[in-house]
Amino acid sequence: MKERLEALKVEALGELAAVGSQQELNELRIKYLGKKGPLTEILRGMGALSAEERPIIGQVANEVRAAIEAVIDEKQAAYTAAETELRLRAETIDVTLPGRPAPVGAVHPLNKVIQEIEDVFLGMGFTIEEGPEVETDYYNFEALNLPKDHPARDMQDSFYITDEILMRTQTSPMQPRMMERLKGAVPVKFISPGKVYRRDDDDATHSHQFTQIEGLVIDKGIRMSDLKGTLLQFVRELFGAKTEIRLRPSFFPFTEPSVEVDVSCFMCGGEGCRLCKHTGWIEILGAGMVHPRVLEMSGYDPEKVSGFAFGMGPERIAMLKYGVDDIRHFYNNDLRFLRQFAHL
Ligand code: PHE
Repeated sequence: MKERLEALKVEALGELAAVGSQQELNELRIKYLGKKGPLTEILRGMGALSAEERPIIGQVANEVRAAIEAVIDEKQAAYTAAETELRLRAETIDVTLPGRPAPVGAVHPLNKVIQEIEDVFLGMGFTIEEGPEVETDYYNFEALNLPKDHPARDMQDSFYITDEILMRTQTSPMQPRMMERLKGAVPVKFISPGKVYRRDDDDATHSHQFTQIEGLVIDKGIRMSDLKGTLLQFVRELFGAKTEIRLRPSFFPFTEPSVEVDVSCFMCGGEGCRLCKHTGWIEILGAGMVHPRVLEMSGYDPEKVSGFAFGMGPERIAMLKYGVDDIRHFYNNDLRFLRQFAHL
């Protein structure tokens, strides 16, 4: 029996020495150490041995088992290490590779101009109010002294949704809206930026959707000189301290008198150039003293208070300021265009 054990050991170690894979090692482990293996079988048969033989054979059997186990453990450790090594190598991260830059957004040039304008008026004590783009005929026209058959409605071709509801053609409806909200209280002093819509065919200078910034001031004793002073201060902060303004008579149904406001050309300083079409002046605003009818309709007494209103188009200002020759650039979302403003 002792010879059988020794032979078993030689055979097992021989096979183990030639093992070539984890799979083979598993098979050999079962073959030699498993419940149905020869070693188990031998140990089971020990009952038949004499009392003197039993401990000797038992000891040899344990030694053989230990020897086989030791080699299997050693091989197993090698396989485990090799496998770990392989996995680590596969998962290696090259920390010296440059990172992928995260895309960073930038403020749209139009929004940038709107924010600049807002900052100037905030500094002069105006609040910023926003109103609905889907508007009633009443606020968009009627309350601004444009009754249903008024010819001046043709100045602003409109997108009607029903007879009484339309996409607002201007930010001016915020005038009656705010006056109603304040119920006759003064001062009224706000600007209102937002989108407006007109039935225009899009081209380099027209867009069916564009933006405006409205302004309204109402208080006791507001005069035309307040309008002029406020707008002069505004253009000087936006275009530079040497900027001058010029008021030209104009017409809006909701202001009387009405003016168009030009600024001295910020490119040539008034000498005449391509930007100002050699006039020295650039038109940027419509404005005027609030019409008494408009005050009255929204609950303000024109005998006690007065006010001025103005409206401007940020697209036009942005085009002039940045030398953009097509209004559609602001709406096409062409990143090659937009990226040029990312660092301004
Ligand atoms: N709402 C006028 C327009 O769109 C501009 C304006 C606003 C004029 C306020 C005077 C006062 O043409």
